[in-house]
Amino acid sequence: MTDTPWTPESWRGKPARQQPAYPSAAALARVENELATYPPLVFAQEARALQDGLARAAVGEGFLLHGGDCAENFTDFTAPRIRDTFKVLLQMAIVLTFGAAVPIVKVARMAGQYAKPRSADLETRDGVSLPSYRGDIVNGIEFTKEARTPDPQRMITAYHHSAATLNLLRAFAQGGLADLHEVGRWNMGFVESNPLRDRYQEMAERIGESLRFMEAMGINSDTAPVIRETSLYTSHEALLLNYEQALTRRDSISGNWYDCSAHFVWIGERTRGVDDAHVEFCRGIHNPIGLKVGPSMTGDALMRLIDTLDPDNSPGRLSLIARMGADAIGQVLPDLVRAVRREGRAALWVCDPMHGNTVTTSTGLKTRDFAAVMRELSRFLDVHQAEGSHPGGIHLEMTGENVTECTGGAYGLSEEDLTRRYRTYCDPRLNADQVLELAFLLADSIRTLKTLRPSSR
Ligand code: PEP
Ligand code: CO
Repeated sequence: MTDTPWTPESWRGKPARQQPAYPSAAALARVENELATYPPLVFAQEARALQDGLARAAVGEGFLLHGGDCAENFTDFTAPRIRDTFKVLLQMAIVLTFGAAVPIVKVARMAGQYAKPRSADLETRDGVSLPSYRGDIVNGIEFTKEARTPDPQRMITAYHHSAATLNLLRAFAQGGLADLHEVGRWNMGFVESNPLRDRYQEMAERIGESLRFMEAMGINSDTAPVIRETSLYTSHEALLLNYEQALTRRDSISGNWYDCSAHFVWIGERTRGVDDAHVEFCRGIHNPIGLKVGPSMTGDALMRLIDTLDPDNSPGRLSLIARMGADAIGQVLPDLVRAVRREGRAALWVCDPMHGNTVTTSTGLKTRDFAAVMRELSRFLDVHQAEGSHPGGIHLEMTGENVTECTGGAYGLSEEDLTRRYRTYCDPRLNADQVLELAFLLADSIRTLKTLRPSSR
């Protein structure tokens, strides 16, 4: 914990990991100054509404669905890609709502997820070493000196891409695509042959029946806008601190500072040192924030982080995103859950069953096996139930594209299948089929949780 006063730039006095080495400090400063004059991408009031939703999820009156790309990029920046990921999120949310009968808080890893932590500063190919690719907000993925040199102008491009993505997401959320009458049409064309399709269509028909009944009672999209609109929040890892600081603004209503680059930001597993820059930055912003919790976390270290990031024990403020791996979770998670409960902390526990289960195939592709993902998820739920704690959310890397990046699932994708449509810029994502399958399995589990408090509203 630190006693020095927080300011938007106080992180600069602390060790900042995973930051690019920009060739020109002057060019960087020019971009930061320019960004600081741009309009915010989100409003503090929206971030507070999200925090309320997360607070309810933490006590079993809701569930967080957090998902999207590992890394967005400037090239695949098209309306169909944004729409399809949005549709898959909606589809998953409706399966969970239908199964669990609690509100699903939807947060997308979109409209700003452009910066990536890397395990090494340099990448070497055929004896040539260049800076690692750190996401499109920093440098280009092509293996040339020009592309790999960090360029601050990319922050400006990232801002504009985020703004355009957010604009489209808001239009989709409020302009009719999210209308519950459309549930049957959220399916991707290629999911048509999924073995779970019938189950999904059956659910869509039951929702249709309920809507017709409600309409007969005078409840329709006009009297209850919730039928035709939804809320979708945005998020990304708060990694590139120059960018995050430049978008941090003081809210005129509360007087508090908000990072207006997204509704929700999180601290990654590689940058969560309690005395380091990322924790320093995040402790002072008032957005709801996430903290990745990997297998090396101890109860004491977690408590210091919670004391620093959420000193007021404010409900919905802090999400603990466990990403331990299917094998480690059983050993590590119980002590952490117990410590949080013993100290009476309000944190929301979320399961990221992706990042601890990444493996590399013999041909050098990163992948994740659907069975390992499901194993980590079900252990996460079991540990919480055994400890009397509520498992309040899930964090996924997923896409609406018909990719082949994770093995397994209903179609039994093999390692050989991966090369067919392997498109990610960073980590392997679940495709829409795999997401739908996971959603049905998860909905069945959530329904039976002892800590769930379905609302009667
Ligand atoms: C991520 O969420 O893409 C990521 C890099 O996760 P972690 O920090 O948990 O490794
Ligand atoms: Co990732």
